[in-house]
Amino acid sequence: MNKKDLILRTPLIIRFCHWVMVCLFILTAFSGLSLFFPSLSIFGLFLGTPQLVRALHPILGCIVFVILIFMGIRLAHHNIPNKDDLLWIKNMKQVIAGQEGGIPIGKYNVGQKFLFWSIMSLITVLFITGLVMWRHYFSDYFPIPVVRIAIFLHSLAAIALILLAIGHAYMAMWVTGSIKGMITGYVSRAWARKNHSKWYQSEMEKVFQNEELKSETAPKTESK
Ligand code: HEM
Repeated sequence: MNKKDLILRTPLIIRFCHWVMVCLFILTAFSGLSLFFPSLSIFGLFLGTPQLVRALHPILGCIVFVILIFMGIRLAHHNIPNKDDLLWIKNMKQVIAGQEGGIPIGKYNVGQKFLFWSIMSLITVLFITGLVMWRHYFSDYFPIPVVRIAIFLHSLAAIALILLAIGHAYMAMWVTGSIKGMITGYVSRAWARKNHSKWYQSEMEKVFQNEELKSETAPKTESK
């Protein structure tokens, strides 16, 4: 496809963070499940012996937290709810039927915004409760009931985040072209117009403004 027909959707640094975080998230989730459910100890084998799993799981969790918070800071402004979101909710049937073309959708739709804030809140809960539970460094500073509450909240947040991540990956496969966009960074104009019409318009305005600027600054041929 001609590069002119493509629009940059996700910059390299965010794509890099996303895919590194996905790999680490899978390792963290599997190792966490193996610690929580001894019958699933086979899930921890990716990381090595049970002792290694216990030592690496919190470290991986901290790295996932830092990467997600970095992504969160970079992407938060695109995920602020606005009044167009109500239109998306009202026209949910059209959206499910894949006919969202007429609805003004910005860079991310309501579903994506919900997912974004849920991921950011859950990873924060996981991080804070994880620190309280971290026997090697911190748990001795907290009374046992606090550690127990932390363990309970940590497991609830982990299950919710794993389910959300599965839902998110499924939705990404459902919307043709979006995974390719997260790999290469670019989406086609047609994809943007169909799935995120308001974002498409603002990107096109930028392109036209740049072209106008270029034609204004280009050396003019003398008219007789
Ligand atoms: C194999 C699994 C995954 C796939 C295929 C996938 C795919 C994608 C795709 C295609 C996008 C871009 C959507 C767009 O441009 O409209 C995206 C964005 C994102 N993904 Fe994933 N993802 C996966 C796993 C995860 C996991 C495990 C997390 C975190 C727990 C995550 C967090 C995010 C976040 C925060 C965004 C930005 C969304 C926003 O700003 O609203 N992803 N993902």
